Amino acid sequence: MRMYDIIQKKRDGYELSDDEIKYVVDGYTKGNIPDYQMSAFLMAIYFMKMNSSETTCLTMAMASSGDILDLSCIEGVKVDKHSSGGVGDKTTLIVAPLVAACGLPVAKMSGRGLGHTGGTIDKLESIPGFNVKLDFDKFIENVNKYKIALVSQTANMTPADKKIYALRDVTATIDNISLIASSIMGKKIAAGADAIVLDVKVGSGAFMKNLDDAICLANEMVQIGTRLGRNTIAVLSDMDQPLGVSVGNTLEVIEAIETLKGKGPKDLESLCIELAAYMVFAAKMKSTVADARNLVVQKLENGEGLQKLKELVSAQGGDVSFVENPEKFEIANIKKEVRLDNIGYVHKMDTEAIGKAAMILGAGRETKDSIIDLSVGLMIHKKTGNLILRDELVVTIYGNDDEKIKKAEEIIKNAYTIGNVEKYKEKLIKAIVTKTEVLRY
Ligand code: URA
Repeated sequence: MRMYDIIQKKRDGYELSDDEIKYVVDGYTKGNIPDYQMSAFLMAIYFMKMNSSETTCLTMAMASSGDILDLSCIEGVKVDKHSSGGVGDKTTLIVAPLVAACGLPVAKMSGRGLGHTGGTIDKLESIPGFNVKLDFDKFIENVNKYKIALVSQTANMTPADKKIYALRDVTATIDNISLIASSIMGKKIAAGADAIVLDVKVGSGAFMKNLDDAICLANEMVQIGTRLGRNTIAVLSDMDQPLGVSVGNTLEVIEAIETLKGKGPKDLESLCIELAAYMVFAAKMKSTVADARNLVVQKLENGEGLQKLKELVSAQGGDVSFVENPEKFEIANIKKEVRLDNIGYVHKMDTEAIGKAAMILGAGRETKDSIIDLSVGLMIHKKTGNLILRDELVVTIYGNDDEKIKKAEEIIKNAYTIGNVEKYKEKLIKAIVTKTEVLRY
């Protein structure tokens, strides 16, 4: 087999065989195929696309490029969740404890943020002492004992995805359905999940900017999961504005704690309840989503979700007093209040730009080696549909560097589109995709 012939075949729109796909993924991961050929191959996929069977094969090649976790020593259905990436997305910190409080084992491996989207592992590291690197035996022991463990992916999990994602990031080949689907589902399969709930984001802060594309992506991932024997459901949610009111690692952890105390923003709370309910339903613990939702709401209202977060933090060496008293968290020194020149209703927010503003402050990584500042971020006081009056506070920036704050302020001001007439808020949940149907809301 020659890489040249495989690139040419895809460039000309033909279907690749399983062996050809495995050859490429294996060869690139081992360093036998150079970046320039892999870049051409990715661009050929970008334009000519892959069909479902090629995408499933690519997913399995990603998963098998490294360790595939065997979670059979954990009792019960292991249900995982994955977000396709958004701004202010701290759902895992809320959903995982809620689901564990319902009695389902949550053995979760999460990633770090890249670009304008944040990652759960960076957020967890805001909690002093929290260890995101448990060895495998301790990981299993904690899930069996507390029903929950949240760790970073092991070094040898989906190495193919790590290399290919880094190349996609610099060759304008991120936003392709087959490449995103195989990247996400490869990680989920390698992480040993029996059932999977996908939080597919749609809008200006997401990779999928419109609902039809997001449904195609969701459908592709649900079909891959189903073909590989995992009960998979996708919840499509709005990313035309940040989720909740905080963006930035420590600020998001505080917001997650407040949400588990019942004092969080309503959009964040509702999405977390839905995702947790679909996880309980996907694991077949309840036979209807409504029953699953009631159980999750009960665990939120009676404080068992918050208690589970405390158990998680304590079991992984974190200082629980920060969960009990979030005012102990250290936030960046400089506080800058942003106000707009015009008044009116917020019609649109460029959410990717808001994520970039947070990244410039240091909350995210421009490249995978960037060092992040956990204490910086944004508090968003005005979102889509809100009325802004003269001199009203729109965003508070928390930063540690005047130059970066200035740049972030400029970006934030341009991210708002203001109009004179009232604008109704978009629905938070836009669609549900299962193996048999697509429900649009
Ligand atoms: N998230 C992933 O894990 N992979 C992608 O390709 C895009 C979002």
